Amino acid sequence: MKKKILDLIKKKNKQKIVSLTAYSKNIASILDNHCDIVLVGDSLGSVLYNYKSTREVSIDMMIEHSKSVRKGIKKALMVVDMPHNTYRNSKEALKNAKKIISQTKCDAVKLEGGKKIYKVVKTLIKNKIPVMGHLGLLPQSDKTFKFKGKQKIERDKILQESQLLEKAGVFSIVLECIETSLAKIITRSINIPTIGIGASKYCDGQILVFDDLIGLNPIDYKFVRKYLNIRKEISMAISNYSKDVRKNKFPSKKHSY
Ligand code: KIV
Repeated sequence: MKKKILDLIKKKNKQKIVSLTAYSKNIASILDNHCDIVLVGDSLGSVLYNYKSTREVSIDMMIEHSKSVRKGIKKALMVVDMPHNTYRNSKEALKNAKKIISQTKCDAVKLEGGKKIYKVVKTLIKNKIPVMGHLGLLPQSDKTFKFKGKQKIERDKILQESQLLEKAGVFSIVLECIETSLAKIITRSINIPTIGIGASKYCDGQILVFDDLIGLNPIDYKFVRKYLNIRKEISMAISNYSKDVRKNKFPSKKHSY
């Protein structure tokens, strides 16, 4: 296993893991100084392209954004989401994961699901492709966006699938929007780090969509703390720029050749 991945696993029970999404170089280069993991998430479909779901994201879109992100990352572990319909069977998954890794030079890929993708995950790992799992709310396949783990049957399924993914060899699992006590149980029952989004403080690490954290996305989600109101900052800057242009104060001599 790659040293970076072993170092990440060693953080379990010792140090919280910090992760965020990035879709381009400039942002990635800032996150690289603070994050253990930078994820090129297929959330870019809704965040950047206003798609109704991540199901519309293509492998080529993921590759182009990942190539940009790669240029901004030196230290963090770079993980790329395999988009919907690119890992329906082992052969397809292997071909597409190899394509993503060779073209983007990312460190690992992330796949959504449990039992359904067990064989696929095993094939990728057998072929030395590091895999991150993703359980709980699964945006690529879930029709409704409700938190998971209310009913016993659902709780048991997610717990069993987290153990199954660990057995398949994933190095970490994202837990999206699951009930607090379930996140705690899962985190205690497996030896690899859990990374939560809307899954309580009991996970080994946290991930958020960067645009949500800085308040660029105007939507408020229960599980997001906005650390910045970037829309207000941008709006003020653009307002000042437009005033300067209209009053012929920009460009000045300093900004002219
Ligand atoms: O696509 C994404 O950004 C993700 C994170 C929300 C975990 O999968």
